[in-house]
Amino acid sequence: MNLSSETCQDDYRPIDLGCLHPEISAPCDLFLRVGHQRYTLFAAKGLGFSPVHRQNLAETGVQELYIQEEDAPVFYRYLKEALSQVVRNPNCPSETKAGFVHAACRDIMTKVYSDPRASFIDQALEVIWPSVDLVVRDDRATRCLVQLTAHDVNTYTHCTNVGIFSIALARILFGSSSEHDLHKLASGFFLHDLGKCKVPLEIINKPGRLDEEEWRIIQQHPRHGYDILTESGHMTDEARIIILEHHEKDDGTGYPNRMSSKDIHPYARICRLADVYEALTSDRPYHNRISTYQALKLMKEKVLADMDQNLFEHFIKLFRF
Ligand SMILES: [Fe+2]
Repeated sequence: MNLSSETCQDDYRPIDLGCLHPEISAPCDLFLRVGHQRYTLFAAKGLGFSPVHRQNLAETGVQELYIQEEDAPVFYRYLKEALSQVVRNPNCPSETKAGFVHAACRDIMTKVYSDPRASFIDQALEVIWPSVDLVVRDDRATRCLVQLTAHDVNTYTHCTNVGIFSIALARILFGSSSEHDLHKLASGFFLHDLGKCKVPLEIINKPGRLDEEEWRIIQQHPRHGYDILTESGHMTDEARIIILEHHEKDDGTGYPNRMSSKDIHPYARICRLADVYEALTSDRPYHNRISTYQALKLMKEKVLADMDQNLFEHFIKLFRF
């Protein structure tokens, strides 16, 4: 093992172990973190990341490896190709496909939501687009993806899960209609909360009630997200609608524009439904999660007044395993 010299932490980027496919060689050197800002070479470029590697790491409690930041473009191109290969492989079990796609989405969402610069948004799209193909092609894998959605307080997991629920619901609603571009929709669904990176963490993680000023700041995140994506050069009509309207409500009390029900776009309604469900079934600073059954019951009984009932009927189909 070659211990690297002391380096700046920003020179390395963590990679979720689930992103390393056992049958595809690593596209760059993989490192293990061994101390404060110290990394050791774990596997050289070109070596396969075998199940034995994975097991050895799991036994020592390691959940992520690192790549050098300069290798990130190469790594995300590898991830895009690996995802495309795996999704199209008829011999790969749906569970394996779903696990790989979920890990890849979770990994890139962590990066792009903590630092939404244009190059990271580029890399996020490399991962999101082949992931959509899995939902389009494989109903069983889509059900596995829905089951994989972990319930925790992490913003990145939240955005991954909302992206998965939303694109699965859009697939049910729109099928293979050429009127709706599921890839562009997915970009909006996965990046719907990008503007939250401009909201102070103490507000996002506040366990109690938000005061008036904090609530005003939270309500700016759709506009921030719109600005970030526009500046990155990745804005589409679909993403604009989803980002700006995903907190609008049918009863006119939503934000940022208090839109009336007739003006809220169906794309934004899909995202909001997934967002509400995900919030109810995840631990948050201000509440403990409830079960899928309890969440769907609550949404049907109480929350539905400001949502689309027809859409909800389609949404519950995602949970018939
Ligand atoms: Fe939001």
